[in-house]
Amino acid sequence: MCGIAGYVGKRRVAPLLVDSLKRLEYRGYDSCGIATLDGGKVWIKKDMGKIDDVDGKMDLKNLPGNIGFGHTRWATHGKVSKRNSHPQTDCKDRIAVIHNGIIENFSELKKRLKRKGHRFRSETDTEVIAHLIEDNLRSGLDLEEAVRKSMNSLKGRSAIIVAERGFPGLIAARTGSPLILGVGRDEYFIASDVPAFLNHTRKVMYLDDGEMVVVEGEPRFRNLTDGKGIEKRVITIDWDAKQAEKGEHEHYMIKEILEQKETIMKAINQDEREIRRVANEINKAFGVFLTGCGTAGKVCQTGEYVFSNVANKHVNYVVSSEFPNYRNFLTKKTLLITVSQSGETADVLEAVKAAKEKGVKVISLVNVKGSTLDRVSDITFLIKAGPEKAVASTKATTAQLAILYLLAYACAGKLNEGKKLLLETASKINDMLNPRYEEYIKKLAKKICREKNVYIIGKALNYPMALEGAIKIMEVSYIHAQGFAGGELKHGPIALIEKGSPCIVLTANDGMNNIIGNAMEVRARGGFIIGVGPKRNEVFDYWLKTPDVGLASPIVNIIPVQLLAYHLGVLRGCDIDQPRNLAKSVTVE
Ligand code: M6R
Repeated sequence: MCGIAGYVGKRRVAPLLVDSLKRLEYRGYDSCGIATLDGGKVWIKKDMGKIDDVDGKMDLKNLPGNIGFGHTRWATHGKVSKRNSHPQTDCKDRIAVIHNGIIENFSELKKRLKRKGHRFRSETDTEVIAHLIEDNLRSGLDLEEAVRKSMNSLKGRSAIIVAERGFPGLIAARTGSPLILGVGRDEYFIASDVPAFLNHTRKVMYLDDGEMVVVEGEPRFRNLTDGKGIEKRVITIDWDAKQAEKGEHEHYMIKEILEQKETIMKAINQDEREIRRVANEINKAFGVFLTGCGTAGKVCQTGEYVFSNVANKHVNYVVSSEFPNYRNFLTKKTLLITVSQSGETADVLEAVKAAKEKGVKVISLVNVKGSTLDRVSDITFLIKAGPEKAVASTKATTAQLAILYLLAYACAGKLNEGKKLLLETASKINDMLNPRYEEYIKKLAKKICREKNVYIIGKALNYPMALEGAIKIMEVSYIHAQGFAGGELKHGPIALIEKGSPCIVLTANDGMNNIIGNAMEVRARGGFIIGVGPKRNEVFDYWLKTPDVGLASPIVNIIPVQLLAYHLGVLRGCDIDQPRNLAKSVTVE
Protein backbone atom coordinates (compact mmCIF):
# COMPACT_ATOMS: atom_id res chain seq x y z
CA MET A 1 0.00 0.00 0.00
CA CYS A 2 2.67 2.33 -1.04
CA GLY A 3 2.68 4.95 -3.77
CA ILE A 4 5.06 4.58 -6.69
CA ALA A 5 5.72 7.04 -9.49
CA GLY A 6 8.20 7.07 -12.35
CA TYR A 7 9.03 9.37 -15.25
CA VAL A 8 10.89 9.03 -18.54
CA GLY A 9 11.12 12.17 -20.66
CA LYS A 10 12.98 15.38 -21.23
CA ARG A 11 12.13 17.36 -18.11
CA ARG A 12 14.10 17.48 -14.89
CA VAL A 13 12.73 14.47 -13.17
CA ALA A 14 13.27 15.11 -9.45
CA PRO A 15 10.89 18.09 -8.92
CA LEU A 16 8.29 16.28 -10.98
CA LEU A 17 8.60 13.15 -8.84
CA VAL A 18 8.34 15.13 -5.59
CA ASP A 19 5.09 16.59 -6.87
CA SER A 20 3.77 13.17 -7.95
CA LEU A 21 4.68 11.61 -4.62
CA LYS A 22 2.81 14.35 -2.78
CA ARG A 23 -0.24 13.46 -4.80
CA LEU A 24 0.22 9.79 -3.90
CA GLU A 25 1.02 10.37 -0.26
CA TYR A 26 -2.46 9.21 0.75
CA ARG A 27 -1.27 5.68 -0.12
CA GLY A 28 1.42 5.65 2.55
CA TYR A 29 3.44 8.25 4.30
CA ASP A 30 5.92 6.87 6.77
CA SER A 31 9.01 7.29 4.60
CA CYS A 32 9.89 8.18 1.03
CA GLY A 33 12.67 8.25 -1.50
CA ILE A 34 13.69 9.03 -5.05
CA ALA A 35 16.15 7.51 -7.52
CA THR A 36 17.27 9.21 -10.73
CA LEU A 37 19.56 8.16 -13.55
CA ASP A 38 22.20 10.58 -14.74
CA GLY A 39 25.78 10.49 -15.97
CA GLY A 40 25.93 6.70 -15.82
CA LYS A 41 24.96 6.71 -12.13
CA VAL A 42 21.93 5.86 -10.03
CA TRP A 43 21.34 8.76 -7.59
CA ILE A 44 19.29 8.01 -4.51
CA LYS A 45 17.94 10.05 -1.62
CA LYS A 46 15.54 8.63 0.94
CA ASP A 47 14.54 8.92 4.57
CA MET A 48 11.78 8.52 7.13
CA GLY A 49 8.99 11.08 7.16
CA LYS A 50 6.57 12.74 4.80
CA ILE A 51 7.66 14.07 1.41
CA ASP A 52 7.82 17.74 2.42
CA ASP A 53 9.89 16.96 5.51
CA VAL A 54 12.31 14.69 3.66
CA ASP A 55 12.55 17.15 0.78
CA GLY A 56 13.18 19.99 3.26
CA LYS A 57 15.94 17.98 4.92
CA MET A 58 17.59 16.37 1.88
CA ASP A 59 16.58 18.51 -1.07
CA LEU A 60 15.13 15.63 -3.07
CA LYS A 61 14.30 18.01 -5.90
CA ASN A 62 17.95 18.60 -6.51
CA LEU A 63 18.74 15.14 -7.87
CA PRO A 64 19.91 15.29 -11.51
CA GLY A 65 18.51 13.61 -14.63
CA ASN A 66 15.39 13.13 -16.77
CA ILE A 67 14.62 9.55 -15.79
CA GLY A 68 13.71 8.37 -12.33
CA PHE A 69 11.19 7.19 -9.83
CA GLY A 70 9.96 7.81 -6.33
CA HIS A 71 8.21 5.94 -3.56
CA THR A 72 6.11 6.78 -0.55
CA ARG A 73 5.92 3.93 1.93
CA TRP A 74 3.39 2.26 4.18
CA ALA A 75 5.57 -0.20 6.04
CA THR A 76 4.79 -3.91 5.86
CA HIS A 77 8.12 -5.76 6.07
CA GLY A 78 10.61 -4.04 8.32
CA LYS A 79 10.13 -1.10 10.66
CA VAL A 80 9.91 2.50 9.54
CA SER A 81 13.56 3.48 9.03
CA LYS A 82 15.82 5.09 6.47
CA ARG A 83 17.34 1.72 5.63
CA ASN A 84 13.93 0.22 4.90
CA SER A 85 12.75 3.13 2.78
CA HIS A 86 12.64 2.65 -0.96
CA PRO A 87 14.38 2.61 -3.42
CA GLN A 88 16.17 -0.60 -2.53
CA THR A 89 19.29 -1.62 -4.41
CA ASP A 90 21.40 -4.66 -5.31
CA CYS A 91 24.88 -5.42 -3.92
CA LYS A 92 26.62 -2.92 -6.18
CA ASP A 93 23.97 -0.17 -6.13
CA ARG A 94 23.61 -0.65 -9.84
CA ILE A 95 19.95 -1.62 -9.83
CA ALA A 96 17.29 0.36 -7.97
CA VAL A 97 13.78 -0.91 -7.30
CA ILE A 98 10.61 0.53 -5.84
CA HIS A 99 7.75 -1.74 -4.91
CA ASN A 100 4.16 -1.74 -3.76
CA GLY A 101 2.92 -5.04 -2.41
CA ILE A 102 4.01 -8.02 -0.40
CA ILE A 103 6.30 -10.82 -1.48
CA GLU A 104 4.98 -13.87 0.31
CA ASN A 105 8.01 -16.06 -0.38
CA PHE A 106 10.61 -13.42 0.39
CA SER A 107 12.25 -15.35 3.26
CA GLU A 108 13.00 -18.35 1.02
CA LEU A 109 14.25 -16.11 -1.78
CA LYS A 110 16.39 -14.10 0.63
CA LYS A 111 17.97 -17.25 2.09
CA ARG A 112 18.73 -18.56 -1.38
CA LEU A 113 20.26 -15.28 -2.50
CA LYS A 114 22.31 -14.96 0.70
CA ARG A 115 23.73 -18.43 0.09
CA LYS A 116 24.83 -17.17 -3.31
CA GLY A 117 26.71 -14.32 -1.62
CA HIS A 118 24.24 -11.42 -1.91
CA ARG A 119 24.55 -8.86 0.88
CA PHE A 120 21.27 -7.52 2.26
CA ARG A 121 21.07 -4.14 3.96
CA SER A 122 17.39 -3.80 4.84
CA GLU A 123 14.62 -5.85 6.39
CA THR A 124 12.30 -5.26 3.44
CA ASP A 125 10.92 -7.87 1.10
CA THR A 126 11.56 -5.41 -1.73
CA GLU A 127 15.33 -5.71 -1.52
CA VAL A 128 14.98 -9.32 -2.65
CA ILE A 129 13.81 -8.06 -6.06
CA ALA A 130 16.95 -5.96 -6.61
CA HIS A 131 19.19 -8.94 -5.78
CA LEU A 132 17.11 -11.33 -7.88
CA ILE A 133 17.50 -9.05 -10.89
CA GLU A 134 21.21 -8.75 -10.18
CA ASP A 135 21.46 -12.52 -10.04
CA ASN A 136 19.61 -12.94 -13.31
CA LEU A 137 21.82 -10.33 -14.98
CA ARG A 138 24.88 -12.23 -13.76
CA SER A 139 23.56 -15.35 -15.44
CA GLY A 140 23.67 -13.50 -18.76
CA LEU A 141 20.12 -12.20 -19.22
CA ASP A 142 19.52 -8.64 -20.36
CA LEU A 143 17.66 -6.28 -18.01
CA GLU A 144 14.26 -6.88 -19.57
CA GLU A 145 14.52 -10.64 -19.26
CA ALA A 146 16.11 -10.39 -15.81
CA VAL A 147 13.13 -8.34 -14.57
CA ARG A 148 10.66 -10.73 -16.18
CA LYS A 149 12.29 -13.81 -14.68
CA SER A 150 12.53 -12.15 -11.26
CA MET A 151 8.86 -11.18 -11.28
CA ASN A 152 7.95 -14.77 -12.11
CA SER A 153 9.77 -15.94 -8.96
CA LEU A 154 7.68 -13.73 -6.65
CA LYS A 155 4.55 -14.96 -4.85
CA GLY A 156 1.95 -12.46 -3.67
CA ARG A 157 0.94 -9.07 -5.01
CA SER A 158 3.50 -6.68 -6.37
CA ALA A 159 3.98 -3.65 -8.59
CA ILE A 160 7.54 -2.58 -9.24
CA ILE A 161 9.58 -0.06 -11.16
CA VAL A 162 13.20 -0.85 -11.93
CA ALA A 163 16.10 1.33 -13.04
CA GLU A 164 19.58 0.19 -13.93
CA ARG A 165 22.75 2.21 -14.28
CA GLY A 166 23.27 2.67 -18.03
CA PHE A 167 19.75 1.66 -19.12
CA PRO A 168 18.09 4.69 -20.72
CA GLY A 169 14.58 4.09 -19.39
CA LEU A 170 12.53 2.27 -16.78
CA ILE A 171 10.91 -1.13 -16.57
CA ALA A 172 7.70 -1.64 -14.63
CA ALA A 173 5.70 -4.78 -13.90
CA ARG A 174 2.67 -5.85 -11.92
CA THR A 175 1.17 -8.93 -10.37
CA GLY A 176 -1.78 -7.79 -8.33
CA SER A 177 -0.92 -4.25 -7.23
CA PRO A 178 -2.00 -1.40 -9.51
CA LEU A 179 0.19 0.29 -12.12
CA ILE A 180 -0.78 2.75 -14.81
CA LEU A 181 1.21 4.32 -17.63
CA GLY A 182 0.49 8.00 -18.34
CA VAL A 183 1.18 9.04 -21.92
CA GLY A 184 2.40 12.59 -22.48
CA ARG A 185 4.05 14.21 -25.49
CA ASP A 186 7.41 12.46 -25.78
CA GLU A 187 7.24 11.64 -22.11
CA TYR A 188 5.81 8.84 -19.99
CA PHE A 189 4.65 8.54 -16.41
CA ILE A 190 4.22 5.34 -14.43
CA ALA A 191 2.28 5.36 -11.19
CA SER A 192 0.13 3.40 -8.80
CA ASP A 193 -2.70 5.85 -9.32
CA VAL A 194 -3.76 8.39 -11.90
CA PRO A 195 -3.68 11.55 -9.70
CA ALA A 196 0.13 11.20 -9.62
CA PHE A 197 0.30 12.57 -13.17
CA LEU A 198 -3.16 14.00 -13.79
CA ASN A 199 -1.74 17.53 -14.02
CA HIS A 200 0.41 16.39 -16.98
CA THR A 201 -1.80 14.03 -18.96
CA ARG A 202 -5.20 12.36 -18.96
CA LYS A 203 -4.12 9.73 -21.49
CA VAL A 204 -3.40 6.39 -19.87
CA MET A 205 -2.56 2.78 -20.65
CA TYR A 206 -3.43 0.23 -17.98
CA LEU A 207 -1.15 -2.64 -17.10
CA ASP A 208 -3.06 -5.80 -16.32
CA ASP A 209 -1.95 -8.44 -13.89
CA GLY A 210 0.98 -10.43 -15.17
CA GLU A 211 2.23 -7.69 -17.49
CA MET A 212 5.33 -5.56 -17.75
CA VAL A 213 6.18 -2.42 -19.68
CA VAL A 214 9.55 -1.31 -20.93
CA VAL A 215 9.65 2.47 -21.17
CA GLU A 216 12.59 3.22 -23.40
CA GLY A 217 11.37 5.28 -26.32
CA GLU A 218 7.88 3.99 -27.29
CA PRO A 219 6.61 1.84 -24.40
CA ARG A 220 6.52 -1.90 -25.07
CA PHE A 221 4.11 -4.10 -23.12
CA ARG A 222 4.89 -7.77 -22.55
CA ASN A 223 3.33 -10.72 -20.88
CA LEU A 224 5.31 -11.76 -17.80
CA THR A 225 4.69 -15.47 -18.29
CA ASP A 226 5.76 -16.01 -21.90
CA GLY A 227 7.38 -12.66 -22.69
CA LYS A 228 5.10 -12.12 -25.70
CA GLY A 229 4.32 -8.55 -26.79
CA ILE A 230 0.88 -7.09 -25.96
CA GLU A 231 -1.06 -4.41 -27.82
CA LYS A 232 -2.53 -1.69 -25.59
CA ARG A 233 -5.07 1.03 -26.16
CA VAL A 234 -4.67 4.61 -24.96
CA ILE A 235 -7.66 5.59 -22.84
CA THR A 236 -8.58 9.17 -21.96
CA ILE A 237 -9.89 9.52 -18.44
CA ASP A 238 -12.46 12.11 -17.48
CA TRP A 239 -11.09 13.27 -14.11
CA ASP A 240 -9.34 16.58 -14.27
CA ALA A 241 -6.47 17.70 -12.12
CA LYS A 242 -8.54 20.41 -10.38
CA GLN A 243 -10.94 17.83 -8.96
CA ALA A 244 -7.99 16.26 -7.19
CA GLU A 245 -6.88 19.54 -5.56
CA LYS A 246 -7.87 20.90 -2.16
CA GLY A 247 -8.88 24.28 -3.56
CA GLU A 248 -9.76 26.78 -0.84
CA HIS A 249 -10.26 24.08 1.77
CA GLU A 250 -7.81 23.32 4.50
CA HIS A 251 -8.17 19.57 4.10
CA TYR A 252 -9.35 17.16 1.45
CA MET A 253 -11.72 15.62 3.96
CA ILE A 254 -13.83 18.73 4.43
CA LYS A 255 -13.77 19.42 0.69
CA GLU A 256 -15.02 15.91 0.04
CA ILE A 257 -17.69 16.07 2.77
CA LEU A 258 -19.05 19.28 1.24
CA GLU A 259 -18.95 17.80 -2.25
CA GLN A 260 -21.79 15.56 -1.13
CA LYS A 261 -24.01 18.47 -2.15
CA GLU A 262 -23.52 17.18 -5.69
CA THR A 263 -22.07 13.69 -5.61
CA ILE A 264 -25.29 11.82 -4.89
CA MET A 265 -26.93 13.45 -7.85
CA LYS A 266 -24.00 12.38 -10.03
CA ALA A 267 -23.99 8.85 -8.62
CA ILE A 268 -27.59 8.16 -9.48
CA ASN A 269 -27.11 9.32 -13.02
CA GLN A 270 -26.71 5.73 -14.24
CA ASP A 271 -27.84 3.93 -17.33
CA GLU A 272 -31.32 2.81 -16.30
CA ARG A 273 -31.26 -0.18 -18.64
CA GLU A 274 -28.11 -1.40 -16.94
CA ILE A 275 -29.63 -0.89 -13.47
CA ARG A 276 -32.72 -2.86 -14.51
CA ARG A 277 -30.61 -5.57 -16.12
CA VAL A 278 -28.55 -6.03 -12.95
CA ALA A 279 -31.69 -5.90 -10.79
CA ASN A 280 -33.04 -8.71 -12.92
CA GLU A 281 -29.83 -10.70 -12.32
CA ILE A 282 -30.16 -10.09 -8.58
CA ASN A 283 -33.77 -11.29 -8.62
CA LYS A 284 -32.83 -14.38 -10.61
CA ALA A 285 -29.76 -15.31 -8.58
CA PHE A 286 -29.71 -18.06 -6.05
CA GLY A 287 -27.74 -16.40 -3.27
CA VAL A 288 -26.57 -12.78 -3.48
CA PHE A 289 -23.59 -11.56 -1.50
CA LEU A 290 -22.44 -8.01 -0.82
CA THR A 291 -18.82 -7.49 0.10
CA GLY A 292 -16.39 -4.69 0.91
CA CYS A 293 -13.93 -3.58 3.59
CA GLY A 294 -13.99 -0.87 6.24
CA THR A 295 -16.39 1.88 5.31
CA ALA A 296 -17.33 0.21 2.03
CA GLY A 297 -18.15 -2.87 4.13
CA LYS A 298 -20.53 -0.80 6.24
CA VAL A 299 -22.18 0.37 3.02
CA CYS A 300 -22.70 -3.28 2.07
CA GLN A 301 -24.09 -4.05 5.50
CA THR A 302 -26.58 -1.20 5.05
CA GLY A 303 -27.37 -2.70 1.64
CA GLU A 304 -28.50 -5.88 3.37
CA TYR A 305 -31.22 -3.89 5.17
CA VAL A 306 -32.06 -1.84 2.09
CA PHE A 307 -32.66 -4.88 -0.11
CA SER A 308 -34.71 -6.48 2.62
CA ASN A 309 -36.88 -3.42 3.26
CA VAL A 310 -37.27 -2.12 -0.25
CA ALA A 311 -37.28 -5.31 -2.32
CA ASN A 312 -38.04 -8.01 0.21
CA LYS A 313 -34.85 -9.63 -1.02
CA HIS A 314 -32.35 -11.47 1.13
CA VAL A 315 -28.76 -10.51 0.31
CA ASN A 316 -25.87 -11.49 2.53
CA TYR A 317 -23.18 -9.09 3.67
CA VAL A 318 -19.78 -10.66 4.27
CA VAL A 319 -16.69 -8.58 5.03
CA SER A 320 -14.24 -9.22 2.18
CA SER A 321 -11.39 -10.59 4.28
CA GLU A 322 -13.77 -13.38 5.40
CA PHE A 323 -15.48 -13.94 2.08
CA PRO A 324 -13.20 -16.75 0.86
CA ASN A 325 -14.41 -18.75 3.88
CA TYR A 326 -17.87 -18.74 2.33
CA ARG A 327 -16.71 -20.41 -0.87
CA ASN A 328 -18.70 -23.55 -0.07
CA PHE A 329 -21.91 -21.55 -0.48
CA LEU A 330 -20.99 -20.34 -3.96
CA THR A 331 -22.38 -21.78 -7.17
CA LYS A 332 -22.78 -20.58 -10.74
CA LYS A 333 -26.15 -19.14 -9.72
CA THR A 334 -24.65 -16.95 -6.99
CA LEU A 335 -24.11 -13.23 -7.55
CA LEU A 336 -21.45 -11.16 -5.82
CA ILE A 337 -21.78 -7.39 -5.47
CA THR A 338 -18.57 -5.70 -4.38
CA VAL A 339 -18.20 -2.12 -3.17
CA SER A 340 -14.87 -0.32 -3.22
CA GLN A 341 -13.85 3.29 -3.64
CA SER A 342 -10.37 2.54 -4.92
CA GLY A 343 -11.10 -0.73 -6.67
CA GLU A 344 -7.69 -1.88 -5.47
CA THR A 345 -8.37 -3.25 -1.99
CA ALA A 346 -6.57 -6.59 -1.85
CA ASP A 347 -9.16 -8.28 0.38
CA VAL A 348 -11.91 -7.37 -2.08
CA LEU A 349 -9.87 -8.65 -5.01
CA GLU A 350 -9.27 -11.90 -3.14
CA ALA A 351 -13.02 -12.20 -2.56
CA VAL A 352 -13.58 -11.74 -6.28
CA LYS A 353 -10.96 -14.38 -7.03
CA ALA A 354 -12.68 -16.85 -4.71
CA ALA A 355 -16.02 -16.06 -6.36
CA LYS A 356 -14.68 -16.38 -9.90
CA GLU A 357 -13.21 -19.76 -9.09
CA LYS A 358 -16.79 -20.93 -8.51
CA GLY A 359 -18.13 -19.29 -11.67
CA VAL A 360 -19.90 -16.50 -9.74
CA LYS A 361 -20.82 -13.34 -11.63
CA VAL A 362 -19.32 -10.18 -10.10
CA ILE A 363 -20.95 -6.76 -10.12
CA SER A 364 -18.99 -3.89 -8.66
CA LEU A 365 -19.58 -0.37 -7.40
CA VAL A 366 -16.28 1.43 -7.91
CA ASN A 367 -15.07 5.01 -7.91
CA VAL A 368 -11.81 4.59 -9.78
CA LYS A 369 -12.37 3.81 -13.43
CA GLY A 370 -9.83 1.37 -14.80
CA SER A 371 -8.96 0.07 -11.33
CA THR A 372 -8.31 -3.65 -10.97
CA LEU A 373 -11.79 -4.29 -9.57
CA ASP A 374 -13.40 -2.38 -12.42
CA ARG A 375 -11.47 -4.50 -14.88
CA VAL A 376 -12.09 -7.90 -13.33
CA SER A 377 -15.81 -7.39 -12.73
CA ASP A 378 -18.47 -8.59 -15.13
CA ILE A 379 -20.38 -5.34 -14.68
CA THR A 380 -19.23 -2.12 -13.02
CA PHE A 381 -21.24 0.83 -11.84
CA LEU A 382 -18.93 3.81 -11.52
CA ILE A 383 -20.07 5.83 -8.54
CA LYS A 384 -18.77 9.07 -10.14
CA ALA A 385 -17.74 10.72 -6.87
CA GLY A 386 -14.54 12.16 -8.39
CA PRO A 387 -11.12 11.64 -6.78
CA GLU A 388 -11.35 10.95 -3.05
CA LYS A 389 -8.00 11.87 -1.53
CA ALA A 390 -8.63 11.97 2.22
CA VAL A 391 -7.93 8.60 3.79
CA ALA A 392 -11.30 8.80 5.53
CA SER A 393 -13.95 7.95 3.02
CA THR A 394 -16.94 10.32 2.94
CA LYS A 395 -18.39 11.23 -0.44
CA ALA A 396 -17.72 7.77 -1.87
CA THR A 397 -19.74 6.27 1.01
CA THR A 398 -22.94 8.13 0.28
CA ALA A 399 -22.54 7.69 -3.49
CA GLN A 400 -22.16 3.92 -2.99
CA LEU A 401 -25.23 3.87 -0.76
CA ALA A 402 -27.24 5.75 -3.37
CA ILE A 403 -26.47 3.17 -6.05
CA LEU A 404 -27.37 0.26 -3.77
CA TYR A 405 -30.71 1.99 -3.14
CA LEU A 406 -31.24 2.33 -6.90
CA LEU A 407 -30.57 -1.38 -7.37
CA ALA A 408 -32.87 -2.36 -4.53
CA TYR A 409 -35.70 -0.18 -5.84
CA ALA A 410 -35.13 -1.60 -9.32
CA CYS A 411 -35.34 -5.14 -7.88
CA ALA A 412 -38.73 -4.20 -6.46
CA GLY A 413 -39.79 -2.88 -9.87
CA LYS A 414 -39.89 0.65 -8.41
CA LEU A 415 -36.83 2.28 -9.97
CA ASN A 416 -38.60 5.59 -10.57
CA GLU A 417 -39.77 5.77 -6.97
CA GLY A 418 -36.23 5.09 -5.81
CA LYS A 419 -34.80 7.72 -8.10
CA LYS A 420 -37.31 10.26 -6.86
CA LEU A 421 -36.39 9.52 -3.24
CA LEU A 422 -32.68 9.88 -4.01
CA LEU A 423 -33.17 13.12 -5.93
CA GLU A 424 -35.06 14.51 -2.99
CA THR A 425 -32.35 13.29 -0.63
CA ALA A 426 -29.64 14.92 -2.75
CA SER A 427 -31.44 18.24 -2.79
CA LYS A 428 -32.03 18.15 0.98
CA ILE A 429 -28.35 17.41 1.57
CA ASN A 430 -27.55 20.45 -0.50
CA ASP A 431 -29.65 22.57 1.88
CA MET A 432 -28.30 20.87 5.00
CA LEU A 433 -24.63 21.42 4.22
CA ASN A 434 -24.54 25.14 4.95
CA PRO A 435 -21.96 27.07 7.02
CA ARG A 436 -24.37 27.49 9.96
CA TYR A 437 -24.83 23.73 10.16
CA GLU A 438 -21.10 23.18 10.21
CA GLU A 439 -20.64 25.85 12.93
CA TYR A 440 -23.20 24.09 15.09
CA ILE A 441 -21.33 20.79 14.72
CA LYS A 442 -18.04 22.53 15.49
CA LYS A 443 -19.58 23.76 18.76
CA LEU A 444 -20.43 20.17 19.65
CA ALA A 445 -16.92 19.06 18.71
CA LYS A 446 -15.51 21.67 21.15
CA LYS A 447 -17.70 20.27 23.87
CA ILE A 448 -16.61 16.65 23.49
CA CYS A 449 -13.13 16.85 21.99
CA ARG A 450 -11.37 15.91 25.24
CA GLU A 451 -13.46 12.78 25.77
CA LYS A 452 -11.72 9.43 25.66
CA ASN A 453 -14.68 7.41 24.34
CA VAL A 454 -17.64 8.08 22.08
CA TYR A 455 -20.48 5.62 21.54
CA ILE A 456 -22.84 5.52 18.59
CA ILE A 457 -26.03 3.56 18.40
CA GLY A 458 -28.40 2.87 15.56
CA LYS A 459 -31.05 0.38 14.63
CA ALA A 460 -32.05 -1.35 11.41
CA LEU A 461 -30.79 0.67 8.42
CA ASN A 462 -28.90 2.97 10.76
CA TYR A 463 -27.09 0.22 12.67
CA PRO A 464 -24.32 -0.19 10.06
CA MET A 465 -24.06 3.60 9.93
CA ALA A 466 -23.42 3.61 13.69
CA LEU A 467 -20.48 1.29 12.97
CA GLU A 468 -19.35 3.55 10.14
CA GLY A 469 -19.64 6.66 12.32
CA ALA A 470 -17.32 4.99 14.82
CA ILE A 471 -14.77 4.28 12.08
CA LYS A 472 -14.85 7.95 11.04
CA ILE A 473 -14.34 9.29 14.56
CA MET A 474 -11.55 6.83 15.37
CA GLU A 475 -9.53 7.28 12.21
CA VAL A 476 -9.72 11.06 12.08
CA SER A 477 -9.68 12.12 15.75
CA TYR A 478 -8.05 9.08 17.40
CA ILE A 479 -10.84 9.11 20.00
CA HIS A 480 -11.91 5.60 20.80
CA ALA A 481 -15.37 5.23 19.30
CA GLN A 482 -17.62 2.24 19.13
CA GLY A 483 -20.85 1.63 17.30
CA PHE A 484 -23.58 -0.67 18.54
CA ALA A 485 -27.00 -1.87 17.58
CA GLY A 486 -29.20 0.10 19.99
CA GLY A 487 -30.71 -3.04 21.44
CA GLU A 488 -27.31 -4.51 22.26
CA LEU A 489 -26.19 -1.94 24.81
CA LYS A 490 -28.12 -3.45 27.67
CA HIS A 491 -26.40 -6.78 27.02
CA GLY A 492 -23.04 -5.49 28.17
CA PRO A 493 -21.67 -2.25 26.75
CA ILE A 494 -23.95 -0.07 28.88
CA ALA A 495 -21.54 -0.83 31.72
CA LEU A 496 -19.16 1.63 30.04
CA ILE A 497 -21.53 4.60 30.32
CA GLU A 498 -20.49 7.17 32.92
CA LYS A 499 -21.60 10.68 33.68
CA GLY A 500 -21.12 12.70 30.49
CA SER A 501 -20.22 9.79 28.18
CA PRO A 502 -21.12 11.04 24.69
CA CYS A 503 -23.53 8.74 22.90
CA ILE A 504 -24.63 9.56 19.37
CA VAL A 505 -28.06 8.20 18.58
CA LEU A 506 -29.01 7.78 14.91
CA THR A 507 -32.73 8.12 14.44
CA ALA A 508 -35.02 8.11 11.42
CA ASN A 509 -38.59 8.34 10.38
CA ASP A 510 -38.58 4.94 8.69
CA GLY A 511 -41.14 3.03 10.70
CA MET A 512 -38.43 0.78 12.17
CA ASN A 513 -36.75 3.11 14.52
CA ASN A 514 -37.64 2.65 18.15
CA ILE A 515 -34.21 3.59 19.35
CA ILE A 516 -35.31 6.37 21.69
CA GLY A 517 -35.85 3.81 24.45
CA ASN A 518 -32.18 2.82 24.16
CA ALA A 519 -31.15 6.48 24.27
CA MET A 520 -33.17 6.85 27.48
CA GLU A 521 -31.37 3.89 29.03
CA VAL A 522 -28.04 5.62 28.33
CA ARG A 523 -29.27 8.99 29.58
CA ALA A 524 -30.55 7.38 32.81
CA ARG A 525 -26.93 6.34 33.46
CA GLY A 526 -25.57 9.84 32.94
CA GLY A 527 -24.79 9.65 29.20
CA PHE A 528 -24.69 12.81 27.09
CA ILE A 529 -27.10 12.13 24.24
CA ILE A 530 -26.40 13.54 20.79
CA GLY A 531 -29.43 12.89 18.65
CA VAL A 532 -29.11 12.71 14.87
CA GLY A 533 -32.33 12.64 12.88
CA PRO A 534 -35.29 14.59 11.59
CA LYS A 535 -37.19 15.01 14.84
CA ARG A 536 -36.07 16.53 18.14
CA ASN A 537 -36.66 14.43 21.23
CA GLU A 538 -36.52 15.47 24.87
CA VAL A 539 -33.89 12.83 25.57
CA PHE A 540 -31.39 14.64 23.33
CA ASP A 541 -28.85 16.89 25.04
CA TYR A 542 -27.70 18.04 21.60
CA TRP A 543 -29.57 17.61 18.35
CA LEU A 544 -28.05 17.37 14.88
CA LYS A 545 -31.00 17.75 12.58
CA THR A 546 -31.06 15.77 9.35
CA PRO A 547 -33.76 15.93 6.70
CA ASP A 548 -36.62 13.48 6.79
CA VAL A 549 -35.95 11.17 3.85
CA GLY A 550 -37.64 8.03 5.17
CA LEU A 551 -35.79 4.89 4.13
CA ALA A 552 -32.84 6.90 2.78
CA SER A 553 -31.93 8.06 6.31
CA PRO A 554 -28.49 6.35 6.37
CA ILE A 555 -27.37 8.62 3.53
CA VAL A 556 -28.19 11.80 5.43
CA ASN A 557 -27.44 10.63 8.97
CA ILE A 558 -23.81 9.75 8.32
CA ILE A 559 -22.99 13.26 7.06
CA PRO A 560 -23.16 15.15 10.42
CA VAL A 561 -21.07 12.36 11.95
CA GLN A 562 -18.47 12.84 9.20
CA LEU A 563 -18.45 16.56 10.01
CA LEU A 564 -18.15 15.87 13.72
CA ALA A 565 -15.25 13.48 13.14
CA TYR A 566 -13.55 16.12 11.02
CA HIS A 567 -13.89 18.89 13.60
CA LEU A 568 -12.87 16.60 16.45
CA GLY A 569 -9.73 15.76 14.47
CA VAL A 570 -8.98 19.42 13.76
CA LEU A 571 -9.45 20.43 17.41
CA ARG A 572 -7.20 17.59 18.56
CA GLY A 573 -4.49 18.60 16.08
CA CYS A 574 -4.66 15.31 14.17
CA ASP A 575 -3.35 14.72 10.70
CA ILE A 576 -6.76 14.84 9.07
CA ASP A 577 -6.09 13.63 5.55
CA GLN A 578 -3.37 11.17 6.44
CA PRO A 579 -4.14 9.69 9.85
CA ARG A 580 -1.37 7.77 11.54
CA ASN A 581 -0.87 4.10 10.63
CA LEU A 582 -3.38 4.22 7.77
CA ALA A 583 -3.33 4.40 4.00
CA LYS A 584 -6.04 5.14 1.49
CA SER A 585 -5.83 2.01 -0.63
CA VAL A 586 -5.12 -1.13 1.30
CA THR A 587 -3.47 -3.23 -1.37
CA VAL A 588 -2.13 -5.85 1.02
CA GLU A 589 -4.12 -8.69 2.56
O1 M6R B 1 -11.02 1.63 -1.49
P1 M6R B 1 -11.97 0.83 -0.67
O2 M6R B 1 -13.33 1.43 -0.62
O3 M6R B 1 -12.02 -0.61 -1.05
O4 M6R B 1 -11.38 0.90 0.80
C1 M6R B 1 -11.92 0.14 1.83
C2 M6R B 1 -11.46 0.59 3.18
O5 M6R B 1 -10.07 0.45 3.28
C3 M6R B 1 -11.84 2.04 3.45
O6 M6R B 1 -13.20 2.23 3.36
C4 M6R B 1 -11.36 2.47 4.85
O7 M6R B 1 -12.08 1.80 5.83
C5 M6R B 1 -11.47 4.00 4.98
N1 M6R B 1 -10.26 4.54 5.51
C6 M6R B 1 -12.54 4.42 5.89
O8 M6R B 1 -12.69 5.80 5.95
